[in-house]
Amino acid sequence: MDTRLQKYRGMIFDLDGVLVDTATYHYLAWRRLARELGFEFTEGDNERLKGVSRMRSLEIVLEVGGLSLSDAEKQAAAAKKNAWYVEYLCALDERALLPGAKDYLEYLRQDGRRIALGSASKNAPLILERLNIGRFFDAVIDGNSVGRAKPDPEVFLKGAGLVSLPPKDCAVFEDSRAGIEAAKRGGMFAVGVGRKELLPGADMYIASLADCYGKQKN
Ligand code: BG6
Ligand code: MG
Repeated sequence: MDTRLQKYRGMIFDLDGVLVDTATYHYLAWRRLARELGFEFTEGDNERLKGVSRMRSLEIVLEVGGLSLSDAEKQAAAAKKNAWYVEYLCALDERALLPGAKDYLEYLRQDGRRIALGSASKNAPLILERLNIGRFFDAVIDGNSVGRAKPDPEVFLKGAGLVSLPPKDCAVFEDSRAGIEAAKRGGMFAVGVGRKELLPGADMYIASLADCYGKQKN
C-alpha cells in the first residue's frame, strides 16, 4: 500500500492521458486541419498540446505552420477540428481506458474516497459516456465549467469544493505540465502520470494508474 496516497480523501483525475488514451484522436484531427491549411503537424508537435485548451492548442498549431488567422477564422478552424475529433471519438470504447484506470476507480469508490474529474476538455461528458465510467465520479469539472485554463488552479479548486474537501486533502492525477502546476498552485498533492523529466514539480510519479492500484492492493 502506498501510504502517500492513502491519506487523501479526495482524488481528482485529469481525463485525457490519465484515464483514457485520446491523444491519438486529437492528433489525427489537428493533423487533418494542418494539412488542409497546407503544412505538416508531427506527433512531436502534438506533445505541446497536452493539457492545453482547444483555442490555445489551435494557436500552437498555427505557430508550427507559421500562419496567422483572424478571430473568425480561428473559431471556424477550431470548430472544424472539434467536429473531426468528435467523429473519431465514435470509435472510442472501454478498450481506450488506460492501464489500471477502471480498477483504481473501483478500488477508491469501495474505499469511500470522493472522486472528481478535473479536465480541460469540453468533450469530457461524451468521453465519460463512451467509456461507461461516469458512475465513479462525485463531481465533474471540465472545459465547459471553468473560465481559466490550467495552469490556473480553478478546475481543481472547483473539484475539491464540489466534493466538500479542502485542497490539502486532495490528490490530483495529471499527465501535463500545466496540470501539475495547477494542482500545486491549488495547494494539492500532485501525482505526475509520466516521467519526471517531462513533468517537473510533481510530488510523486507513476507510469500509469496500474502502479497505484498494485501498490494499494498489496
Ligand atoms: C485536454 C487535452 O484534456 O483537453 C488537450 O489534453 C485538449 O489536448 C484539451 O486540447 C481540450 O479538449 P477539447 O476536447 O475541449 O477540445
Ligand atoms: Mg491530460
